Amino acid sequence: MKMIRKNIDMIRKIPTKNLEVGMFVSDVGRTWFNHPWKTKSRLLTERSEIDELIKFGIEEVYIDTEKSKKIQKPKEPFKQLPNTINPRAARNVVKIEKPDPVVPLEIEFPKAAKAYTKALDTSKALVAACRMNKRIEVSEVQENVDELVESVSRNPDALTALIKLRHFDDYTYTHCLNVSVLAISAGKTLGLSHNELKILGLGTMFHDLGKLRIPDNILNKPGKLTDEEFSVMRSHAALSAEILLEQNLNVDDKVIQVARFHHERIDGSGYPDHLQGEEIPSLATICGLSDVYDALTSDRVYHKGMLPHDALKFIYSLRGTHFQPDWVDRFVQSVGIYPPGSVVELNTGHLAVVMEVNNRSLLTPLIKIVADPHAQLYTRPKLVDLSKPAESQGWSISKVVPPSNVSFEPSSFFNITEPEA
Ligand SMILES: [Fe+2]
Ligand SMILES: [Fe+2]
Repeated sequence: MKMIRKNIDMIRKIPTKNLEVGMFVSDVGRTWFNHPWKTKSRLLTERSEIDELIKFGIEEVYIDTEKSKKIQKPKEPFKQLPNTINPRAARNVVKIEKPDPVVPLEIEFPKAAKAYTKALDTSKALVAACRMNKRIEVSEVQENVDELVESVSRNPDALTALIKLRHFDDYTYTHCLNVSVLAISAGKTLGLSHNELKILGLGTMFHDLGKLRIPDNILNKPGKLTDEEFSVMRSHAALSAEILLEQNLNVDDKVIQVARFHHERIDGSGYPDHLQGEEIPSLATICGLSDVYDALTSDRVYHKGMLPHDALKFIYSLRGTHFQPDWVDRFVQSVGIYPPGSVVELNTGHLAVVMEVNNRSLLTPLIKIVADPHAQLYTRPKLVDLSKPAESQGWSISKVVPPSNVSFEPSSFFNITEPEA
């Protein structure tokens, strides 16, 4: 009885002219042939949907206040970041609060690999459930996300290396998971609490579910999209939120905000609500940055992914227009200019694989020198901390080498313990 009462309290009749984008219409109050929509309920994503109802002569509709509330702009102010960083941070030694890893990489790597593989299976199940309109098993996804959060808390470089090193052909499954890992890692650098990291991880796992409702010919079109196709494509963010609302999942409101607002940009050029500046929820911003980075660096059917440092350069160019400057700086720090798993050439011509990002100096990571200047592989690669002068012996990174230009598999160097050149 109590439950029914609660449901009734959530439903309110309002004049159609008072509708706003972002409200959830639970019933248009007409039989199906007497209204312009395929179904009687819908999350309003565009003003034209309200105009359609008015044109049809529908003067009053029922809205679900609870579902509408979940996607309203957050009232909390934009999270202020401590310790603003110099704009030239990407080329300088920078100070950050990110704590040092508590577990060495070689110990965390197999644990992270296990958590990643499990989460990938869950990601596949999630996509399959949504395609068949089945219920999303939130507790299962949350359990996997929690494991990712734990791994990042022990050593963020293990999962960051994994998403870079593991090659999966199906972008649909890997993208949401990779964005989740990047966002959790960035969130950690940004000083989010454990609980916020779990919410962020869950929201990012769900952020592109709406794409499953975009027709294949638009979603996978090799050429340029027409204006009309673009607007269909852009509806995916609102659709992601709608799927979560439709299923009445027991999730934090911020999870739904991440899904709906991950394409909003501070200059108002984003979608679906053209939010500006501080109106954009902070977790959605972190998801947005991670999303752009993963999209740029991933190999797709029709184009090769950018190298991480080129993608970061591009993201840097969006500083102040699409994203808050401080947040871009922190994101760069979190990923590192040379993320774990990158292949680099040293000033001596030696080839090395980046093992760990140095929290205090992005230009001097921990590397493994794996080949001589003639690209001959060492049988016992040498581990060198470039930030320690005694170890680095004048070695420095001169450039990043695309993995396709080398004959070895960078991931194979993550399991070797105590190497000596
Ligand atoms: Fe998206
Ligand atoms: Fe995405």
